[in-house]
Amino acid sequence: MTWEELKQACEACHRCSLGNTRTKTVFGTGSQTAALVFVGEAPGEQEDLSGIPFVGRAGQLFDKYLEAVGIDREEVYIANILKCRPPKNRDPESGEQDECIGFLEEQLKLIRPKLLVCLGRISAMRLIRPDYKITAEHGQWIEKNGVLMTAVYHPSLLLRDPHKKEAMLADMLEVAAKYRAIAETTSPAR
Ligand code: URA
Repeated sequence: MTWEELKQACEACHRCSLGNTRTKTVFGTGSQTAALVFVGEAPGEQEDLSGIPFVGRAGQLFDKYLEAVGIDREEVYIANILKCRPPKNRDPESGEQDECIGFLEEQLKLIRPKLLVCLGRISAMRLIRPDYKITAEHGQWIEKNGVLMTAVYHPSLLLRDPHKKEAMLADMLEVAAKYRAIAETTSPAR
C-alpha cells in the first residue's frame, strides 16, 4: 500500500465506533522518511478538530521539549496508537487499539525509523510490552525488530504532575543525543 492509499483508508475507516464520533482522523504529521518517530496515545479535542497530532495543551508542552533539545517537529514523525478521539479523552479500549494499530504498523513499515519513542504508558504498553511500567522504566532503551525504542512520560501527565518534568527533560536529551548520533552515521560523507 502507498502512503496516500493508507491515508485514504484511514480517513474512511469505521472499523470501530470512534469512526462515528470523530470530527477528523489524525493520521500523523512530519517526515515520511524520519529516523525518529514519536507515538502518543490518541487524539484529544484540538487534534480531533484540526486533524493534527499534539496541538492542544499537551502538544504545546511537547513542542517545548522538542525545541529545548533541538529537534525540529518537521524532520521527525508524530502519530498516535489511535487515529480517532475517544469520547471525553478516555483511555483507548483494547478492541479499539486492535482495530487501529494496523495503520500505525503500515506507517512504520513505510517510514522505517531507527528510533521510536512512546509518549506515555498506553503507547509503551502497546508497542514495547503489555506490562510496561512507565514510572520505573521510562528512558530505558530496548531494541525490537531492529528499531531502538524507549518511552517517556506523556506530556499531559506532566501538566498534572510538574515534578516529572526534570525526568522528561533528561529522557528527551537522551533521545536527541541518540538521534544526532544516528544522523551522523547515516548522512553521506562530506
Ligand atoms: N495526546 C495524545 O496522546 N496524542 C495527541 O495527539 C494529543 C494528545
